[in-house]
Amino acid sequence: MTKPFDVVVIGGGPGGYIAAIRAAQLGMQVACVDEWKTPAGKPALGGTCTNVGCIPSKALLQSSENYAHAAHGFAEHGIQVQGLAVDVARMLRRKDKVVRQNNDGILYLFKKNKVSFFHGRGGFVKGDAGGWEIGVAGADEEVLAAKHVIVATGSSPRALPGTPFDNKLVLDNEGALAIPEVPGRLGVVGAGVVGLEMGSVWRRLGSEVTILEALPTFLPVADGEVAKEAFKLFSKQGMAIQLGVRITRVSANMEVTVEFSDSAGEPRKAAFDQLIVAIGRLPNTDGLNAEAVGLKLDERGFIAVDEDCRTNLPNVWAIGDVVRGPMLAHKAEEEGVAVAQRIAGQHGHVDFNTVPWVIYTAPEIAWVGKTEQQLTTDGVEYRAGTFPFMANGRARALGDTTGFVKLLADARTDRILGAHVIGPMASELIAEAVVAMEFGAAAEDIALICHAHPSLSEAMKEAALAVAKRTLNL
Ligand code: FAD
Ligand code: NAI
Repeated sequence: MTKPFDVVVIGGGPGGYIAAIRAAQLGMQVACVDEWKTPAGKPALGGTCTNVGCIPSKALLQSSENYAHAAHGFAEHGIQVQGLAVDVARMLRRKDKVVRQNNDGILYLFKKNKVSFFHGRGGFVKGDAGGWEIGVAGADEEVLAAKHVIVATGSSPRALPGTPFDNKLVLDNEGALAIPEVPGRLGVVGAGVVGLEMGSVWRRLGSEVTILEALPTFLPVADGEVAKEAFKLFSKQGMAIQLGVRITRVSANMEVTVEFSDSAGEPRKAAFDQLIVAIGRLPNTDGLNAEAVGLKLDERGFIAVDEDCRTNLPNVWAIGDVVRGPMLAHKAEEEGVAVAQRIAGQHGHVDFNTVPWVIYTAPEIAWVGKTEQQLTTDGVEYRAGTFPFMANGRARALGDTTGFVKLLADARTDRILGAHVIGPMASELIAEAVVAMEFGAAAEDIALICHAHPSLSEAMKEAALAVAKRTLNL
C-alpha cells in the first residue's frame, strides 16, 4: 500500500531537509527520503554538507588553526607553550562528534515539524500531473505517493580520468577529512575551494603541501586583487601552488606519483604520501529512475530547471547541487524554502546576485556581487573603495592585520555592486554587505551607519567612505 503525502523530498542535505521543514511549516504532509548512513548503518541526515563537507571541514579548519596559533601566534602575546603536539586521532574524533550532533539535530527537527523520514534510496516509479509514486529501497522499503516531488540529491566528487578514489592514497573530500596521520608530502589537484581549505588544514598541521591547478590564473572566480593577495599569502604559508599544469599520469602504489607538464609545457614528476583530488563535483542523478519518467537533464548532467526550480515534469522540482548555479549549502537552502513556498501558493524568491561566497582559509576570503573584472567586462562604470586591516585597531589588537575590505559602487548612483573581503572573520563581515545589497543600499548608506569601535566591521565602513575618497583612519 502506498503512503500518501503532499510533498516527497528526495535527499536530506541542506537543500532537501530545509525544503521539507518549510513545507511542513506551511501545513503540508511531508516525507523526506535520504540514503546517507553512518559506518554503523544509522541514518546520517544533512547530506554532503553535514557529513563530508561544510561542517567537518570547518571543524578541522578550527582545530588546525588553533594549533597554528599555539605554534606560531601565541609567543607574540607573551604566551609560552611547551610540549605542543598534535593528536590527529582526537582531532578527527572531535570532528566526527560535531558531525553527529548535526545529524541528530536534523532528525530532531524532522520530529518537531512532523516530517516523516524514510531511510533509503528514493526513485521515481511512475506518475503524471495527477501525482507521483516514489519507491524507497534500503532500510525502509516503501512506496510513497505525492502530489509534489522535490529532488535534492546533491553532488559527488569528480575523479581524474583513469584514477579512481581509494581514500587511502587518492582521496576525495571524504578521505581528505579523515587522513589518520599528518602526511609528510601531500599533493592536491585543484586550487579550488576544497583544495585550498583542505590544503590549509594539513599544511597547518605540518604537511608539505603542493597544489597542482590546471588553470593559468589563481582563483578566477574571486576579485583579481583578492586572488593576488591570497596567492601571495598562501605561498608564504608554505603551500606550493603550481598553475597551468596538465596531469598526464597518476600511479598509486605505497605512494602516489603524479606526472604532469608545468606551465611552460615541461614534463615534471612529483611523489606524495597522499593525493587529494578536488577538481569539482558531479550531480547525483543515478538511481532516481529519471530516464524512465522522462526527467530532463541538461548537457552537463544536471537536472534541467527554470529559474523557479521547476523541472520539465509537472509538480516535480529540483534544487541545490543537482541543478545549475553555485554548489553552496546556503544556495540549496534558499532554493528549498522558495520551492516549498511556491508549492503552497506563496511567493518564493532567490536573488543569485546576493549569494555570498566564503573560503574558510586563513585569511578568510568572502565576497558578494560583482568582481572588478566582471564590471569591467560588462562596461559598468564603478568606483572602488578599499581599506586595509592594517589600519584597523581591532585587527591590530587581535594580531591579525592581513588583507583588506573592498567595496564596488555604481559611479553614478553609488549603489553597491560588490563587496570583497580578505582578512580576519571575512565570513562574518560579508553579511553586512549582503544585507546592504538586498536593500539596494548605496556605499554612502554603510558609511553613514554607526559601527562599534573597536571592531573589524569598521573596515567595511571605512571601505564605504573610501568609495567617496574620505576615509577617516587612513
Ligand atoms: P547534498 O548535501 O549533497 O545532499 C544530498 C543528499 O541526498 C545526500 O544525503 C545523498 O546521500 C542523498 N541522496 C542522493 N541521491 C539519493 C536518492 N536517490 N535517494 C535518497 N537519497 C539520495 N558549501 C557551503 O555553502 N559552505 C561550505 O563551507 C562548504 N564546504 C564544503 C566543503 C567540502 C569539503 C565540500 C565537498 C562541499 C562543501 N560545500 C560548502 C558545498 C555543500 O556541501 C553543498 O553545496 C551542499 O551540500 C549541497 O546541498 P544539497 O542538499 O544540494 O546536496
Ligand atoms: P572547484 O570548482 O571550486 O575547484 C576545482 C578546481 O580544480 C578548479 O580551480 C579547476 O580549474 C581545477 N581543475 C579541474 N580539473 C583539473 C585537472 N584535471 N587538473 C588540475 N586542476 C583541475 O571545486 P572543488 O574545490 O572540488 O569544490 C566543489 C564545490 O564545493 C565548489 O564549487 C564549492 O561550491 C563547494 N565548496 C564550497 C566551500 C565553501 O563554500 N567554503 C568549501 C568547499 C567546497
